Amino acid sequence: MCGIVGCILKDNDEDVAPILFDCISKLEYRGYDSIGLATYDGNIHVKKDKGKIDEVNQKLDLPNMPGDFGIAHVRWATHGDPSKLNSHPQLDEENTIAVVHNGIIENNTKIKADLIAEGHTFKSDTDTEVIPHLIQKFMDEGFDLEHAVRKTIEILEGAYAIAAISSREPDKIVATRKDSPLIIGLGEDGYYLASDSPAILKYAKDIIYPEKGEIIILDKSGVVVHDEFDNPINKEVDTINWTPEMAEKEGYDHFMIKEINEQATAVRNTLTQRDNIQKIIDDLDDVSRVCFVACGTSYHASLTGKYLLESLAGIPTDVILASEFKYSAKTLKEDTLVIFISQSGETADSLKALDVANQTSKTLGIVNVAGSSITRRAQYVIQTQAGPEIGVAATKTYVSQLTAIYMFSALMAENEELLDELDKVPDFIDEVLMDVESIKSMSKRYNYAKDFFYLGRGYVYPTALEGALKLKEISYIHGEGYAAGELKHGPLALIDEGIPVVIVIPPGESHKKTMSNLEEVKSRGAHILAFGADNDYELKNKSEDVFCINSEVSEIISPLVYIVPLQLLSYYVTIGKGFDPDKPRNLAKCVTVE
Ligand code: M6R
Repeated sequence: MCGIVGCILKDNDEDVAPILFDCISKLEYRGYDSIGLATYDGNIHVKKDKGKIDEVNQKLDLPNMPGDFGIAHVRWATHGDPSKLNSHPQLDEENTIAVVHNGIIENNTKIKADLIAEGHTFKSDTDTEVIPHLIQKFMDEGFDLEHAVRKTIEILEGAYAIAAISSREPDKIVATRKDSPLIIGLGEDGYYLASDSPAILKYAKDIIYPEKGEIIILDKSGVVVHDEFDNPINKEVDTINWTPEMAEKEGYDHFMIKEINEQATAVRNTLTQRDNIQKIIDDLDDVSRVCFVACGTSYHASLTGKYLLESLAGIPTDVILASEFKYSAKTLKEDTLVIFISQSGETADSLKALDVANQTSKTLGIVNVAGSSITRRAQYVIQTQAGPEIGVAATKTYVSQLTAIYMFSALMAENEELLDELDKVPDFIDEVLMDVESIKSMSKRYNYAKDFFYLGRGYVYPTALEGALKLKEISYIHGEGYAAGELKHGPLALIDEGIPVVIVIPPGESHKKTMSNLEEVKSRGAHILAFGADNDYELKNKSEDVFCINSEVSEIISPLVYIVPLQLLSYYVTIGKGFDPDKPRNLAKCVTVE
């Protein structure tokens, strides 16, 4: 989704544009189709266009703009095609106010009609353009920039993080938010705002997290925050412990492969959360039911949670897609624990569901981004320790979520044996990563494929779903994940000569039945890519391609390890097809609209 940044430098003689350009480039991972900057040095200067950052920069020389404060934007089109006119910053009629916005203004059609009736003329198809026009209207009525923004948000419906500058009242940036992420950074050389911390890690470590309806004024002397009733307030300042290097590629070709390689560390670091998780469990008291709520990859991690909590702790557990929550979760009670899984902590569907769940039940967020909205709204929080994840396809955050869910389930069930087994997972992951060449050559044999099936049973059924999601989101190959036993109830009709079928088959209770499912597809011409134990000779005999995993990886912990070769397979198939795995088309890292 869109990303915004802003910066005002303390030093009048330094130009802000190179810093704005650097910061906004760090938000490329959020998914975008256009980029734009606005700076001020007596007049508002704007450079913007549709296209990739590098392309637009070659054309417009974005860091070369005068002025010591400004705002910038990467746009992910919602209202109006990607185009120069629809790119942000959006301006008022007189080019005296520039605004960047992340979110959607739901009542923009009505506002626009009212403003047109009052004589305003609009240039773009965006919902955002109403914002500078409203600010203009209120400044014309005599309000200062801060109060014009306040009056404006009284009218807006929807989600927004907004930053505005005005030549009528220079040397300040006014920002506000509702349901879209926004952080404020206090740096040595200036003050910053951004949609996400990787944008400003290099410049500011001390962070303020604004709440809905607060107005933030950044000027050369500091940052002032007013609450929704216009009272000045003191905000807590948190320090980010992520380093700028963590958000760099550090020699890898892509963030995705770097992040896949960081998974053993991510698991190790997340395992350090044991005491915190135990404290939460002690405090929770009586929980008679658990309900996981999540989207995408986080939903797949949640499905594993259901298997664990029900089989280990005997707690009835549901898993609900966040976007379906309001239609489906009708029986939440006081003793229901609703667990929100999210790497970003800003997913709009999950946040909406969290607000509902907070009214009846206990809520717990398992989140990777510190200070994100879910961490501030959930009653309890487990922080996964994956570090910043830049690739759009979730990898290390997924295994970190799983790690937290495993620890939570094992501690709920007082299962020390499983906790001990978890300690071995980082080494098992590293063993898989050492055999990357096998996956590389396997991937080359399947570049032709238009469809893949992924089958798993029991604990690795969610692994099959996640493997298929990884493939489709970055390689654009159709991949379907199924519970292995479900295939004969319909999808088997699609199995044809040569179709690749990925079988996830760890040793254990499910092995025998999955082997029968392998036979079913093989006898209909499927080409088998199996992921199983290194001592599984039957599997080796029956499959065209086998990737071997240490046979000591037990069935229960297999989701933490077996996903790694599937991520690698998606990555190398994508590279073979010449696509960029870090920035898949149409997708955004952080989905801040419903
Ligand atoms: O930030 P979240 O974990 O809440 O995001 C949920 C999904 O949008 C996310 O997992 C998405 O499916 C990723 N593209 C998966 O790789």
